[in-house]
Amino acid sequence: MNDFVGETIVEAETLQERVRELGAELTRDYEGCDLFLMGVLKGAVFFVADLMRHIDLDCELDFMAVSSYGSLTDSSGVVRILKDLDAPIEGKDVLIVEDIVDSGLTLNYLLRNLRGRNPRSLEVCALLVKPGRRKIDLPIRYVGFEIPNQFVVGYGLDLDQRYRNLPYVAAVEDSEIERLERPRRFSRVSPEGLKAGSGLPITNRD
Ligand code: IMP
Ligand code: MG
Repeated sequence: MNDFVGETIVEAETLQERVRELGAELTRDYEGCDLFLMGVLKGAVFFVADLMRHIDLDCELDFMAVSSYGSLTDSSGVVRILKDLDAPIEGKDVLIVEDIVDSGLTLNYLLRNLRGRNPRSLEVCALLVKPGRRKIDLPIRYVGFEIPNQFVVGYGLDLDQRYRNLPYVAAVEDSEIERLERPRRFSRVSPEGLKAGSGLPITNRD
């Protein structure tokens, strides 16, 4: 399975230690609040499941599934909601839990969307951020790790839906990205798989 997985960026034990620290910080910061964790499917599933077990407060959990068009490794900012929250969040202290903030386009959409639902507070906890790739400056209150401009997989993060089950975070060899991108440039992905006018196939990223 790991043939194309390159350099380890964050070791499994380092991840767990940082998640424990973030849990302790959230426990302090959200004491007396109505904490509502909003995990972003699918990438944040592993992170939010571990994080929540380190929060020593009453809190709720729900998920949104969003998908942004783009190439395998670049988001376009055109975000679609595939699954919405089950209930209103008005008056709650909502914490968006994301796997990674890359360009920031997906998070920007989520922040605007959720702000419109009148939560009491709205903050972000991202396991990974790639500051060098950011297109929009966003307030990210809790950050696990800053990483370099590399495409990474593992601990929930995927490349074309694979490698989520690695217990650590690793870079992917450029040759593997190139190999997966190549057929997409020449074939239609789905009936809606061609962005109007662009001639480029588009892929959903989550
Ligand atoms: P953004 O809109 O460019 O910030 O990217 C948002 C989404 O793209 C993230 O929530 C991830 O699902 C995915 N993504 C961005 N960078 C990576 C990466 O390095 N590995 C895997 N997924 C990524
Ligand atoms: Mg994601």
